[in-house]
Amino acid sequence: MPDAYSNIHLIVRWLHVIAGITWIGHLYFFNFVNVPLQGSLDDATKKAVNPQLMPRALWWFRWGAMITLLAGLTLFVLTYFYTPGAGFGATSLLMDADGITDRAMWILFGMLLGIIMWFNVWFVIWPIQKKLLTGKVPADQVPAARKKALLASRINTFLSGPMLFGMLAPAHYGTMSFGALLLALGLGVLAIWFSIKSSSRVGKPA
Ligand code: HEM
Repeated sequence: MPDAYSNIHLIVRWLHVIAGITWIGHLYFFNFVNVPLQGSLDDATKKAVNPQLMPRALWWFRWGAMITLLAGLTLFVLTYFYTPGAGFGATSLLMDADGITDRAMWILFGMLLGIIMWFNVWFVIWPIQKKLLTGKVPADQVPAARKKALLASRINTFLSGPMLFGMLAPAHYGTMSFGALLLALGLGVLAIWFSIKSSSRVGKPA
């Protein structure tokens, strides 16, 4: 049986990834499934479906984001600022003789994008959706509010591709270079662009 630190570390890592799946899974549901679906519904169906669907989906979405962030920050401390037996302080995974390590640069890149996304969820998307769902947005401002929420949601969807690269690269890639960063950005953005482009066509009833 591994020591307590290894067990806690793994459980926090697991919690982080399962919460991340919950968050990003809902983000992709909104962007790849729900946006094209809403365009094909009439007003009466929207009024029947959305008050049931949206509060539930937004609950998992925003709390998934919060737990991902909290577990992620804990994981950051456990991995880069704590050594079993020696206590808190920069570990060799954070700093080596040449300064900040490539591994740490990757996770800082991923965390920067992840934290921007978390901010968008809690301080842009959710406040707007809450007001829309409770009818607090004046009718003439509804289209602008919807547009702003969609823009923030689209930004998060595009950031999610490179962000995940930044999550995986520290332990499974390691070397940081300009080319690898371009690959992370290019591959991530391309995958999302392709998915959004396809989303209006795929899975339509025959
Ligand atoms: C919200 C801000 C986030 C923070 C602060 C954060 C932080 C971290 C940290 C510190 C690690 C460990 C890196 C290492 O081992 O060197 C990590 C790994 C990881 N994170 Fe995040 N993360 C965030 C968002 C996300 C999101 C949204 C997902 C989506 C699924 C995610 C998925 C992962 C995965 C899959 C790993 C790799 C686990 C492994 O290889 O063992 N993270 N994250």
